[in-house]
Amino acid sequence: MRTKVAVIGAGPAGLLLGQLLHKTGIETIIVERRSRDYVLGRIRAGVLEQGTVELLEKAGVSDRMHAEGLVHDGVEFCFDGDKHRFNFRELIGRTVTVYGQTEVTRDLMHARDASGAVSIYEADDVTIHDFDTDKPKVRFAKDGVSQEIACEFIAGCDGFHGVCRASVPAGALTTYERVYPFGWLGVLVDRPPVADELIYAHHARGFALCSMRSPTRSRYYVQVPSGEKVEDWSDDRFWDELRRRVDEETAERLVTGPSIERSVAPLRSFVVEPLRFGRLFLAGDAAHIVPPTGAKGLNLAASDVGALAEALTEFYQGRSSAGIDGYSARVLARVWKAERFSWWMTSILHTFPETDAFGRRMQRTEFDYLVSSEAASKSLAENYTGLPL
Ligand code: FAD
Ligand code: DHB
Repeated sequence: MRTKVAVIGAGPAGLLLGQLLHKTGIETIIVERRSRDYVLGRIRAGVLEQGTVELLEKAGVSDRMHAEGLVHDGVEFCFDGDKHRFNFRELIGRTVTVYGQTEVTRDLMHARDASGAVSIYEADDVTIHDFDTDKPKVRFAKDGVSQEIACEFIAGCDGFHGVCRASVPAGALTTYERVYPFGWLGVLVDRPPVADELIYAHHARGFALCSMRSPTRSRYYVQVPSGEKVEDWSDDRFWDELRRRVDEETAERLVTGPSIERSVAPLRSFVVEPLRFGRLFLAGDAAHIVPPTGAKGLNLAASDVGALAEALTEFYQGRSSAGIDGYSARVLARVWKAERFSWWMTSILHTFPETDAFGRRMQRTEFDYLVSSEAASKSLAENYTGLPL
């Protein structure tokens, strides 16, 4: 097989890149180690920045998102029971859209099917080769038969545990990492959301988040210590814990039901530099991880591939390598700002085992300052709704 860009991974990064490149006439093959259904079964992010919405429009996959996505003008923070709403539309004239990662992925898969572009699911033993030359290759096995793709570029969109970053010689990478001593236990339930907008709650017992997927489907999270097992949490235990962490009115309004999905996600901040090695590019979770508090993971994956698609289009159509040469620096500048915001949201909203009385007063004072200062509220609003590339 032969193509221009071999894309490793059919998560949001790989699928969106494939679609953006298809729009500019650049041929791709996507290689994914899991099945379609497995990829669609992963419940992950739920909030799209305005820039991500615009990229999905550019990719031609925005009809269902506009029909079914929920435009939110703001979010609420609840600090030890005290609630405050940040109205992004009033503060800075921007909004976010609640539309699940599963739906974004489904829309992108349908668009790819319609385009006729090749996607190979359930590819085993994927390896990448010769990306330090102008003739890179991807090898894998499909149904026990070895295959090779000869290509001009490789896009490593294969997530945190993928093969692409791991294939770069160790000395060529600088890694920055922080692992938090807690995770999020998430529950999906077919019950109406407790509020019209998201509620991010800080409580002495730990962080909680009330989110949603639709007017009839809700997503809730509570902070749990690292290593906590889903099996140790009955639905009743989860709902009791959630009610204790939010304000009384929210606790009373909460409509509970049997969970349809439960999982624990660890929290980590992680960045590698640079994001290009010869003819290999890293994008999305393959390149960086943010703790989910700022809802940035999926959005960063989208903005990375938005930039990569522009760079590759400039290479093929404009016959200039300036875009691909600048990709790493351009994307990393934005990635670090999202890392900062996600770390900051995590720091003020969670309880940390090591935090003393002074640290707790600093968290409270951060909240009081955010509420009382229009400048601080605007800073929250511009980061949450997404900084420009
Ligand atoms: P991924 O979605 O990870 O896609 C990578 C793809 O590559 C996968 O389909 C994988 O199967 C495939 N792959 C891996 N290795 C190989 C290989 N060797 N060969 C071929 N294919 C391979 N973000 C939020 O904002 N809010 C959340 O609530 C949230 N929850 C999350 C929960 C979990 C458990 C995880 C892991 C992430 C969560 N995120 C969340 C982050 C967000 O979902 C990711 O940032 C986003 O999925 C990144 O997209 P991606 O395409 O870069 O990577
Ligand atoms: C969701 C996840 C997040 O990490 C977040 O900050 C907001 C919403 C969600 O899954 O709905």
